[in-house]
Amino acid sequence: MEILELQSKVHDESKQGEAYAPFEADPNLYKKRFYIESYGCAMNFSDSEIVASILHTEGFGATKNFEEADLVLLNTCSIREKAEQTVRKRLTEFRKTKRKKPGMLIGVLGCMAERLKTKLLEEEKLVDLVVGPDAYRSLPSLIEEAEGGQKMVNVLLSRDETYADISPVRLDSNGICAFISIMRGCNNMCSFCVVPFTRGRERSRDAHSIIAEAKDLFDRGFREVTLLGQNVDSYYWTDENNHETVTFAMLLERVALVSPLLRIRFSTSHPKDITDDVLHTMAKYHNICKYIHLPVQSGSSRILQMMNRTYSREWYMAKVDRIKEIMPDCSISADIIAGFCTETEEDHQDTLSIMEYSKYDYSYMFFYSERPGTLAERRYTDDIPEEIKKRRLQEIIDVQSRLSKESNLLDIGKSFEVLIEGESKKDEKDWKGRTSQNKVVIFPKENYAFRAGDYAQVKIDECTQGTLLGKIIKN
Ligand code: 5AD
Ligand code: SF4
Repeated sequence: MEILELQSKVHDESKQGEAYAPFEADPNLYKKRFYIESYGCAMNFSDSEIVASILHTEGFGATKNFEEADLVLLNTCSIREKAEQTVRKRLTEFRKTKRKKPGMLIGVLGCMAERLKTKLLEEEKLVDLVVGPDAYRSLPSLIEEAEGGQKMVNVLLSRDETYADISPVRLDSNGICAFISIMRGCNNMCSFCVVPFTRGRERSRDAHSIIAEAKDLFDRGFREVTLLGQNVDSYYWTDENNHETVTFAMLLERVALVSPLLRIRFSTSHPKDITDDVLHTMAKYHNICKYIHLPVQSGSSRILQMMNRTYSREWYMAKVDRIKEIMPDCSISADIIAGFCTETEEDHQDTLSIMEYSKYDYSYMFFYSERPGTLAERRYTDDIPEEIKKRRLQEIIDVQSRLSKESNLLDIGKSFEVLIEGESKKDEKDWKGRTSQNKVVIFPKENYAFRAGDYAQVKIDECTQGTLLGKIIKN
């Protein structure tokens, strides 16, 4: 999927399910409180910001404590079975509170709502609302009905909903980095993936509304935007009269022109769709980050074909070469699945060797989890025993750990422009920021007058597997 499951800082397992409250709402301003938790990909986190915006206009203020909420929402993920189990567990906890506080409404949003539909009401008796990813505009009316005691479901998928006109309320924001959703849905039909079924057909958001959102964020002090879509390279927007068409490369350029001080990232690219145009646009603008998330999924052409990825091992490797040719300093990360149906030891070795070839700076690694309704579930047998899946996954993780460390060691002695995102969690005397290549850098504040949102030139002198450590260069 090409939206990162928790990309960059969100791509941090510890953030899963974190309570997202923009602020503790003033009870005089808001008549009711809502509490929202998000799971899964960055798109879900971004959707929660749209939901928060819709709820605000309805007089709901956020709370960080679900026990005092009138409305508790879980924005869910279906990508792997484990993601669904986590949500089910959480619902059990909410139900306990609801028994003591019967007026509280519990709603399930996102991919699990879409996948399980009314089943969720039968399985989870105390859920009041089930709302799919394209139906968030109907939340106010659904809530009203649910307050009257009805169980409400809206899981209609849309061909054109992009929530373009809704201004997201930035949840749990550091005030520096924000997501901008540029498209929804996916037309790719990778055989293992449930997303095309839960998020529907691909549609691109009005380019003007995207630029306006980027400008507004910049004016409010944000310094980095991540353009989100399941497959951003197939972004394609035309106005109603077909006078204006905007491709992803064009969109990138327009966002880059908002300000040279605004960093642009995007996620996720599909290897078959990322064009030279996109790569040249990235190379042309200093503020477009030199980092591409390019999920490989497997290094075996036979498995890739069964996965319906529409590229071969050689084709993927040529894409990596092209990226490095146009941007030698570009970092690449991947998603990798271990133990897909029929995978042999040889296929697995192909995955390990493509990792070595691509020298991923980072990877998101999973073992295959069969999802009901997907092409793979209908066509193939999930025949790799769990111990083998896990052993192969561990081998993949081990290779990646070494590659990440090697990549970080190569950065020692170099200096990088680092966007300061805030104080280091471990030590308030240190700043935490990231390089254009998306690597986290920790460095002492010393006596410089930097603030979050500033760019600092930092020379790297040490590293761990996941972090670079350095010092500000005196100019
Ligand atoms: N099993 C395991 N991993 C999966 N992904 C998607 N579907 C599955 C599945 N059924 C992984 C892919 C995708 C990432 C977001 O999640 O690697 O790129
Ligand atoms: Fe990504 Fe493929 Fe799933 Fe689409 S179908 S979201 S491209 S993994």
